[in-house]
Amino acid sequence: MNLDIAYTKRLDSRIKLHGAEAFEGMRRAGQLTAQALDMLVPEVKPGVTTQSLDDLTFEFAMDHGAVPAPLNYRGFTKSICTSLNHVVCHGIPGPRILRDGDILNIDVTLIVDGWHGDSSRMYPVGKISRAAERLVAVTYEALMRGVGAVAPGGHIGDIGAAIQSYAEGERCSVVRDFCGHGIGQVFHDRPNVLHYGRAGDGIELQPGMLFTIEPMINLGKPQVKIKSDGWTAVTRDRSLSAQFEHTVGVTETGVEVFTVSPAGLHQPPYDTA
Ligand code: MF3
Ligand code: CO
Ligand code: CO
Repeated sequence: MNLDIAYTKRLDSRIKLHGAEAFEGMRRAGQLTAQALDMLVPEVKPGVTTQSLDDLTFEFAMDHGAVPAPLNYRGFTKSICTSLNHVVCHGIPGPRILRDGDILNIDVTLIVDGWHGDSSRMYPVGKISRAAERLVAVTYEALMRGVGAVAPGGHIGDIGAAIQSYAEGERCSVVRDFCGHGIGQVFHDRPNVLHYGRAGDGIELQPGMLFTIEPMINLGKPQVKIKSDGWTAVTRDRSLSAQFEHTVGVTETGVEVFTVSPAGLHQPPYDTA
């Protein structure tokens, strides 16, 4: 099987450049991941535990011949990450019962035929505050501005600059401690994709690069700390945090987003009725 992987010649020779076969694999993995996030929309409601959402996603993966990448990844024991309210990322599913007014990020990574699709969305639980609504909307727009900054011949710093200038202009802050990442047959690969920075900085974007963009945006200060479970990242000031994530590929002409929702459930409100 010719997987058609080349490597960049300039700036960072260790970043993989993938061919058509990889893009086909990423399309399948990305679409199944987005379908899992769609499946979860009606399941996120007051009274359910985050563990039940993990169970549903595990079953979904099994039913579709996929493997949840987080399961047993570096000691993580669940299939998804569930990050509530002031949890920035890497929240661990468990007995916590969702309550009216919570905001939840669900991050799903499915491996399909060896290729990784990695995506997350925000899910409001019942009726949420205006402040929470605004944070979620700003975070989705920040992700999409980052995606819009991807083009061959551009630089990776263009992505972070687009996200940071927008989010800070909306009086929100950008988390510095976590970044997007190269992806493909590996879950977390080079390059790091920072969600802040200056346009023109960093490596040049070239057709065939595959990576995620996954900004974490806070209503308060950007600082985070990790809880004693070794995974759960929370805002130090306990302000609300939100995140959306897409997996993308650089094409000859622009960008392909592999994890677009097949049901059109891109951001809340998810009016499925
Ligand atoms: N899906 C996360 C990301 O966007 C990584 C989760 S790693 C885990 O990169 F171990 F916490 F699952
Ligand atoms: Co990711
Ligand atoms: Co993810």
